[in-house]
Amino acid sequence: MRKQVVGNWKMNGSTAVIDEVLDALKTERHAADVSVSVPYLYLGGAVAKLAGTQYRVGAQNVSEFGDGAYTGEVSARMLKDVGCSLAIVGHSERRRYFAESDEAVIAKLARLLEVGLYAVVCVGETLAERDSGRAESRIEAQLARLHTLMARGAGPDRFCIAYEPVWAIGTGRAASGDQIAAMHEVIKRHLGASYAVLYGGSVKAANAASIMALPGVDGVLVGGASLDAREFGEICRAAG
Ligand code: 13P
Repeated sequence: MRKQVVGNWKMNGSTAVIDEVLDALKTERHAADVSVSVPYLYLGGAVAKLAGTQYRVGAQNVSEFGDGAYTGEVSARMLKDVGCSLAIVGHSERRRYFAESDEAVIAKLARLLEVGLYAVVCVGETLAERDSGRAESRIEAQLARLHTLMARGAGPDRFCIAYEPVWAIGTGRAASGDQIAAMHEVIKRHLGASYAVLYGGSVKAANAASIMALPGVDGVLVGGASLDAREFGEICRAAG
């Protein structure tokens, strides 16, 4: 399976950062599928800058509703209209700060699938869940609802899973190789081996190659390091 590298800028970046990071990215070709998920406002600019390259642009969220009277929301159709290729759904920061439920995540995924956009569906456990031995059951509960959509034809070409332990995000403390391999195995057992499973949580140039060499790891979802042109370039190279 071709490796995937997905950058998630979160609520960071500017037109200057778009110029710096994406111009640097464009100077190289990578063997992996590489995309950057930028804030909504910058989607159009990023799409224009990466036009004609191998790189794809993604959103970090999407509305669970179709077009209509939902002030402040952005629909899947609009993402597609501006040239976006994918979107992240269910990130733990959205679950935590915006009370996004498992049901809402599934509704968002359904909207993306309807318009033909690829989805990166995030799952992950908190430290309390891991410490109390509930990590696996939490992940399985998050995955369980996907089966309805899979039964309706959402195959491995339509979405992948990003395993992001909440305690590893932005902490500089990535999960260990054993922890990552074990959870990726759980996810693949649950969904089927053909679904790509990415790892996210403190991925840097220094650990990207060893993480991507682990069994069951089909790529990485990169937060902070995706805003640094040099770091991100090295991570993309490590995926090749
Ligand atoms: P960091 O790489 O900054 O830990 O963030 C991970 C993440 O949340 C990517 O979606």
